[in-house]
This record gives sequence, structure tokens and C-alpha cells, in this order.
Amino acid sequence: MEHIHLWQPGKSGRTLLLLHGTGGNERDLLSIAETVSPDANVLAVRGRSLDEGMNRFFLRLAEGVFDEADLLEKTEELADFLVSASSRYGFALNQTIAVGYSNGANIAAAMLLLRPETLQGGILLRAMVPFRPDVLPVLAGKQVLLNSGESDPILPLDNANELARMFRESGASVQHEVLGTGHNLTKQDLTLAKNWLGNVMACSPNLDPL
Ligand code: MLT
Repeated sequence: MEHIHLWQPGKSGRTLLLLHGTGGNERDLLSIAETVSPDANVLAVRGRSLDEGMNRFFLRLAEGVFDEADLLEKTEELADFLVSASSRYGFALNQTIAVGYSNGANIAAAMLLLRPETLQGGILLRAMVPFRPDVLPVLAGKQVLLNSGESDPILPLDNANELARMFRESGASVQHEVLGTGHNLTKQDLTLAKNWLGNVMACSPNLDPL
């Protein structure tokens, strides 16, 4: 299913899938992509759910309480869109890292749990457990950076710890950073993301294309 999006070809085989927070759009995380990996291709997508006029990637019943049926459906749609975009633009899914903030980080986490074959990993900025799968997926080889805010009033730290645990139990390689901040992003988020991505690229320089 088509999504409003923006495609910027880069100079490396790496692709960043940018997923904005509630009320944002496909342009919001472009400067983050430019900072963390200026050579990467960028696929920036706009969420297709509307909540009182605000773009989101799936519906919620209240803050932090998700409409799980909609979340699962929208996650599948976004994964299908990513697969079709990879053929259209010619990029490799196994070199694609989702970069999501808040609601965008939550759907990125859901994609890793539900459709792990569509991503190499994710930079999840202020994510929580999107849903609890009956059976954990096999995430061996997937790379996750999870940046949480110590005093985030929207995404409680216990919940982020549970997400990190869930990814680790699934076999993913997880770096969970707890920053001395709240829900807003800080410069430290960008520094951590840039360094983490540098390490991921150094460990997987010659991945095969699609
Ligand atoms: C929000 O965007 O309100 C929450 O932080 C996360 C979400 O609803 O997915």
C-alpha cells in the first residue's frame, strides 16, 4: 500500500527509514539522518493514521495505550510498503535501519517483532513495548539502539527496559541507553546514534544486496 514519502538517494548501500513522532511528517527526521549518516539513502515516510488531525503510524486509545488491531495492520502495511520501495528504488532491506522517534520508534519496534526480514535493525528513540507477541521472533543478527529518557513522562522506563529485554531474548544485539532527560531528543541522542551506526557499518561492510 502506497505511503506518502520522500526518497533521497545517497552514496552508500545503507538506507535509513525515517519514522516521525505523533503530529509530525516525513521531513521531521531528515536532519537526524544527515547528522548520523550523511551518505545513506533516506526513505522518509508519513504515518497514515490521523489522531485529531495529527499524523501517526497507528491509532491509540489513550496516550501510551494502543489500538492493537490497528497497530498490527499498519505495521504489516508499512513493511509491505518498504518491500515494494526497495524494489522500486533499488536498495537492500538487509542494509536498512529504521530510525524512529516516539510513535515512529514504536512502529519500528513493531516491525522488528512482526516483520524482522524487512530491516537490519533500528535506532529507536523513546520507544516502548508496542505489543507482546505470543511467541518471540528470531532476531539473531538484528541490531537495535534504544535511547530512553530517564524521566520520560510518556514512555515509562520500566516499559523501555521490558522492550530491551524482549529484543535480547529474541537474539538481537541491543544497546540500551538511558539518558538524563525526558521525552524530547537531545544532542546526546544524535551522538549515540552516530557512533552506534558507525559500529554497525564497521561490522557489516560487505552485505550482499537484495
Ligand atoms: C505518543 O506519540 O503519544 C506516544 O509517545 C507514543 C505512541 O503513541 O506511539
